Amino acid sequence: MTPYVADPVYLNGHFLPLAEAGISPLDRGFLYGDGVYEVIPVYSRRTFRIDEHLNRLQATLDGIQLANPLTAEAWKTVILKLVESAPWEDQSIYLQVTRGADDKRDHAFPPISVTPTAFAFASPLVTTSADIRAKGVAAITVPDLRWSRCDLKVVSLLANVLARQQAVEQGCAEALLIRDGLMKEGAASNIFIVKDGVLIAPPKTHLMLPGITYDVILELAETHRQAHEVREISEAELRAADEVWMTSSTKEILAITRLDGQPVGTGQPGPYGEQMWQWYQDFKNTVMRKG
Ligand code: PDD
Repeated sequence: MTPYVADPVYLNGHFLPLAEAGISPLDRGFLYGDGVYEVIPVYSRRTFRIDEHLNRLQATLDGIQLANPLTAEAWKTVILKLVESAPWEDQSIYLQVTRGADDKRDHAFPPISVTPTAFAFASPLVTTSADIRAKGVAAITVPDLRWSRCDLKVVSLLANVLARQQAVEQGCAEALLIRDGLMKEGAASNIFIVKDGVLIAPPKTHLMLPGITYDVILELAETHRQAHEVREISEAELRAADEVWMTSSTKEILAITRLDGQPVGTGQPGPYGEQMWQWYQDFKNTVMRKG
């Protein structure tokens, strides 16, 4: 069986087999979820939008007042080595930084002598099969129980975990998070809707993760002069949408064709989404794979 995590992994300045990588049980990532992460797609061994991903990592570190243990150049060297060592052409690179391990448990930050824990690994990038893509996936809506800094890509993901699990238990692929009557995003994806030929995306606020794929989609809509708007989406608009898509670095663009047991639009993936998926593939093959 293909392993999910390639050897070596990176941990605190060293490249070593996953089986030999260990961290302290007092690590604040473990005790408090006090850490940040990134997921970077790699196509034909070329990282996609690495600067944007490293900028988002930095913005999240700034947001939680944690110094970046590596410069952007040092991260790139680590990532390059992981990409080169892994057996797959298309990969997903996971990075995590936590506030490290003190010798006691205390909510407030540890002394600066405590160094952050930096961890990274490569896994295969498995995109959605043509079969599933042709049908689309089902989703549910759930109340958004997360905190108010959802723009930060932090590892404290319990509310997202519980939302996604609720979806899975109902045979669904994603949970769409509703806060104050507005649809913000998915448990691990951004959400777009299409109504009367217009693509609508929720705005980047503190209540949504600024997705890198989200940016690509809006850029492609712009490039191809497709009608699009960035504005809040009410729960009622979500339910009346002609198309709903989920997007992320690992899922790319995936049509949601059933929502809370009801068909979305015709109940089939819609034309705008199909077209966007094709543009995304073209972009991937002509730009992303060429580096
Ligand atoms: N998640 N919103 C949330 C809450 C996410 O967790 C993600 C990605 C996105 C999409 O962001 P991007 O297009 O940059 O992947 C939006 C990653 C893939 C994860 O947690 O595994």
